[in-house]
Amino acid sequence: MVYRLTVYDGDQVTYIDATRGDNLLSLLRENGIPIECPCNGNVICGKCKVIATGLVGTLTDQEMAMLTPEEVEKGVRLACMTRIDGNAKVYLLHDGK
Ligand code: FES
Repeated sequence: MVYRLTVYDGDQVTYIDATRGDNLLSLLRENGIPIECPCNGNVICGKCKVIATGLVGTLTDQEMAMLTPEEVEKGVRLACMTRIDGNAKVYLLHDGK
């Protein structure tokens, strides 16, 4: 089944087809969405933060260790650790904001 990932980057909105289990960072990169990932998805840099809502995998312990309680409250995720489980929305953060 194909799901829809809606990506918001300021005023720009991009729709991406996704399947269950897709990795969010890979999807964004494959579709030309600009996102910082200097550690290449190795959960070291913490630069791939986005706000993700909808059907995404649960927050992992590795993410919890790299996010502040305020970020967790806002729905911030590490794109490299986020799995797509269905329709979802992603809001890009630039400079962590
Ligand atoms: S790409 Fe570095 S933590 Fe996700």
